[in-house]
Amino acid sequence: MAIGQILSLVRLFGFKRLLQMYRRHEEALPYVRGYCTSAVLWSLLKTGLLDEIRKSGPVDIEEFAEKHHLSPHVLLSICDYLDGIRVLKVTDGKYGLDARGERFMQEPRGLFDLLAGYEEVLFNLLPMLRNEKAFGKEVFRLSDMVAKGSGELGRQLPFPVLQDMIQGHGYGSVMDLGCGDAEFLIILCEQDPKIQCHGFDYDEKAVNVAKEEIQKANMDGRISVFVDDMFDLKKGKSDWPTVDAFTAVDVFHEYLFDGTEKIVALLREMKETFPDTHLLVAEFCKQPHEQLRKRPTAFLEHHLLHNLTNQKILTAGEWEEIFEQAGYAIDEKRIFDMVGHGYYVLR
Ligand SMILES: C[S@@+](CC[C@H](N)C(=O)[O-])C[C@H]1O[C@@H](n2cnc3c(N)ncnc32)[C@H](O)[C@@H]1O
Repeated sequence: MAIGQILSLVRLFGFKRLLQMYRRHEEALPYVRGYCTSAVLWSLLKTGLLDEIRKSGPVDIEEFAEKHHLSPHVLLSICDYLDGIRVLKVTDGKYGLDARGERFMQEPRGLFDLLAGYEEVLFNLLPMLRNEKAFGKEVFRLSDMVAKGSGELGRQLPFPVLQDMIQGHGYGSVMDLGCGDAEFLIILCEQDPKIQCHGFDYDEKAVNVAKEEIQKANMDGRISVFVDDMFDLKKGKSDWPTVDAFTAVDVFHEYLFDGTEKIVALLREMKETFPDTHLLVAEFCKQPHEQLRKRPTAFLEHHLLHNLTNQKILTAGEWEEIFEQAGYAIDEKRIFDMVGHGYYVLR
C-alpha cells in the first residue's frame, strides 16, 4: 500500500487502532481461508481436476470445463483463488499444482476427503442446532467420501500397524467388517502374497468404491467384497466366509451413542458364532480435552464431527471393558496416545 494511503488512514483512525484492526484480521484470516480452501478443494477433488493435473501436468481450464460439462466461469474463479493462495500455479495460461498443492495431495488429501464426507453436516449446523433437522433423519454423511478419506488416512498409520499384527500372528485369511473402500485389504494383499481377504460394508456406495479400487490394484482374485450389515449376524446368520481372523477398523464407535450394549451384544454373538476366529479391532481412543487444548491436533475436528454425528469415542480402558463383557480376551494390544488410536488382537 502506498505510504500516502497509510498516512491518511493513520490520520483518520490513529496508528494504534489501525494496527489493532490489521492484527485481528490477520489472526482470523487462516480460519476463513481454511473454510474457503476446503470447500473449493472438495469441488476440484470431486470433479477430478486435481487428479488430472497430477496425472498429466498443467491443465487448460477452458478445455477441462468443456470436456467435463462444467461452468468455465466457476472453475476459473476457483482456480484463480487457489493460485492466489499458492495451491495452484498458472504457467503459460495453464493451471498446475504449486509446491503447497503437491504436499496437500500427499498425506493431507485424506483429511480433505474425510471432511468432504461431513460437508452436509457442516452446511446444516444451524438447523441442527435449532432442532429443525437431526443427524440420521434429515442430515447424513457422504458415505463414499467417508470411505475414501478413511482409506487414505488409514493407509498412513493404522493399516500398517494392523498389518504388522496380522503378519505376527500368521493369519492366512481375514474378513474386514465395515471395509469402506477396501484400502486396508489391498494393503494386506500387497504385503503378503498368500493372504486371502474378504470384506463387507452396509453402504452400497462404499462397496462400489471398494470394487473399483480392488480392480485398479489388480486384486480381484484375492479380495472379495459384498454389501452386508454386521448386525444381521444377530439374526443367526453365519454365511460369512470361514477365515482365521475378523478385522474391524474404526467401525464400532459408530454405535455407542446410546450406550455400549449394542456393540457388547454384537461381539458376544460373534464370539459365540465363531469361537475360534480371532478379532482384531482398531479404534479411536478418546483424548482428554485438556491435552487437546494444550496441543490442538486434528483430533479436535475429529471429536467435533464425531459428536455431531452421534458417534462416541471411548477411552482405551472403556474399550477393554467392552471386549471383556463380550467374552473376548486380549491377546495383544498397542496403544498410540499421540494419534489417539488403539489396536487389539482378541480371542
Ligand atoms: C469410519 S469408516 C471406516 C472404513 C474402513 N474400515 C477404514 O478404516 O477405512 C466406517 C465404515 O463402517 C461402515 N459401517 C458402519 N456400520 C456398519 C454396519 N452395521 N455393517 C457394515 N458396515 C458398517 C460404514 O459404512 C463405513 O464405511
